[in-house]
Amino acid sequence: MPARPLIIDTDPGVDDAVALVLALRSPEVDVRAVVAAFGNVGPERTLDNAGRILALAGREDVPLGAGAEQPLVHRRALRAGHVHGDDGLGGRAAHLPEPVAPHPGSGIALMARVLEETREPVTIASIGPLTDTALLLAAHPGLAERIERIVVMGGAIGGGNITGAAEFNVHADPEAAHRVLTQDRVPVALVPLETTLGCAAGPEWIAALTGAGPVCAELAAMIAPYYGYYRDRYGRDAVALHDAIALLECVAPGSLAATPIPLGVDTGFGPARGATVPYRAPDATTPPVDVLSAPDVPAVLDAVLARLAGQASPCSIA
Ligand code: RIB
Ligand code: CA
Repeated sequence: MPARPLIIDTDPGVDDAVALVLALRSPEVDVRAVVAAFGNVGPERTLDNAGRILALAGREDVPLGAGAEQPLVHRRALRAGHVHGDDGLGGRAAHLPEPVAPHPGSGIALMARVLEETREPVTIASIGPLTDTALLLAAHPGLAERIERIVVMGGAIGGGNITGAAEFNVHADPEAAHRVLTQDRVPVALVPLETTLGCAAGPEWIAALTGAGPVCAELAAMIAPYYGYYRDRYGRDAVALHDAIALLECVAPGSLAATPIPLGVDTGFGPARGATVPYRAPDATTPPVDVLSAPDVPAVLDAVLARLAGQASPCSIA
């Protein structure tokens, strides 16, 4: 079976780094472009980080684009340096190889070009703010039919992380998230915070990652300070690698279980800004979003580790 084309829209970010390596090492997908936008840290840093991760993985062949530098409508200052480190990669960015140079032009233009040039339907993994994905759909409506589905790491049905109500990626640009989650042109699958927190990896998993070769050892070094944040914040000896869980679904569809739920996003300026809630507007034709959950957490974590270690084969299942 030919590898399925994939575009990754990201804001590296420690868990983004793990997700990128997982995708780059999964034979079932062909990563056609990586676009780095503002999010965990500023856009200059996320672009540099994405370029370094591509070089670390030996995938200088993958085109890199500069994504959105700010949200669609309202600027926001909230970053997540306290989680991912000021450099966005747990203090390890300077230890990585020199970054791959970004392609000239915008990340949106790169995404549109990949869609125009690819015969097979393309999956888009949106693992940062949804700004680029929303802009792509708005600027190139005719390309929606070229998109297989959009897999989003984001949202929280049961309570947020950056605020009590909102998950970071949706809170970063609620208007963009509203555009993507309520459009009816492209199927959307959402991997929410409760699913990714439920798939947190413990010390044995990290030890196995550390021993799985030099690239995985570097990922484990990036994760170390991020792990400490999660242990302190959630009181569990485990770390949530949110984006890697979403990318597992991209490389091995069906790894997670889907429940169709129509969602609304709070784009107001109250305490619930950025909240994702089960909701169907009275006059809406909004199709439901496939909200993904993990009924078998050990199998999910085993599959993520196997792919990072380069052990996955096209016939393997998650
Ligand atoms: O809330 C978790 C999400 O926000 C992840 O994508 C993480 O990288 C940050 O972007
Ligand atoms: Ca991210």
